[in-house]
Amino acid sequence: MESLFEKVQESVGYISSIFNEVAEYAIVLGTGLGDFEKGISGQVAIPYIEIPHFAVSTVESHFGQLIIGYKSGIPVIIMSGRFHYYEGYSSAEITFPVRVLKALGVKHIIFTNAAGGINPHYEEGDIVIVHDHINLLPDHPLRGKNDERLGPRFPDMLKTYNLQTIEIFKNLAKSLNIKLKTGVYLALQGPSLETAAEYRMGHILGADLVGMSTVPEVIVARHSGMAVTVFSIVSNTCYPQSKLSETTIEGVIKVVSKSAITLQKLLNHYFRNIQNNAGVK
Ligand code: HPA
Repeated sequence: MESLFEKVQESVGYISSIFNEVAEYAIVLGTGLGDFEKGISGQVAIPYIEIPHFAVSTVESHFGQLIIGYKSGIPVIIMSGRFHYYEGYSSAEITFPVRVLKALGVKHIIFTNAAGGINPHYEEGDIVIVHDHINLLPDHPLRGKNDERLGPRFPDMLKTYNLQTIEIFKNLAKSLNIKLKTGVYLALQGPSLETAAEYRMGHILGADLVGMSTVPEVIVARHSGMAVTVFSIVSNTCYPQSKLSETTIEGVIKVVSKSAITLQKLLNHYFRNIQNNAGVK
């Protein structure tokens, strides 16, 4: 049987046969963030279905393709469509693309997602940069025999959410007059939304956001030594109960799509700054 390492190499071989420039940045698009693709120039898109060993997204709101192109002149890989535990995949399957991105040369991975807001000060549409997480998913992506070529057996998680990058984004947001909050993301398995008591539990546990994705990918990104940044858009407020109302996928997409324009602006400036600073280093 092929090892995970060999499978990753096979996927990389296929992707590199189509696009061979190294991208040090990757952006994973969450629900309602698909418009990000339009801000990429010189695009080459590879449907997940063509890539050896990639799973295929089963959720309508998540298209499945890898897009490689340039953002403000910087090569980036966009994962348009991600996998979730609730789709029936294991956490190892969900995170396979993250392994592939690392092997392709990605050093910094930026995840985006839609999340419920359980910080009472959050409002619908708020953009939050995540500084920590609580993982309550039932399956761990690193469960099983560890391959040291991919990362250590016991990866430390303390510096997972790069503080320096958080500061850079906070300053950038300030200069652009963009409201950027910080928060802790709690991963629950879904696909049902939480009950009022579960949202309250999340708040008591110390979380600010609740969602059904991202954390397995973050763990694997950390395991493989990549810098990680996570942005959540508060698609619905859930705590206290007076802020809670019925949540639909249509409502989530509507709220997120609006704030996605602002997040896109923030990221564009981030990449523009990287390009401007590239000559200085
Ligand atoms: N709970 C879990 N996941 C979510 C939510 C929520 O309220 N909103 C968007 N994703």
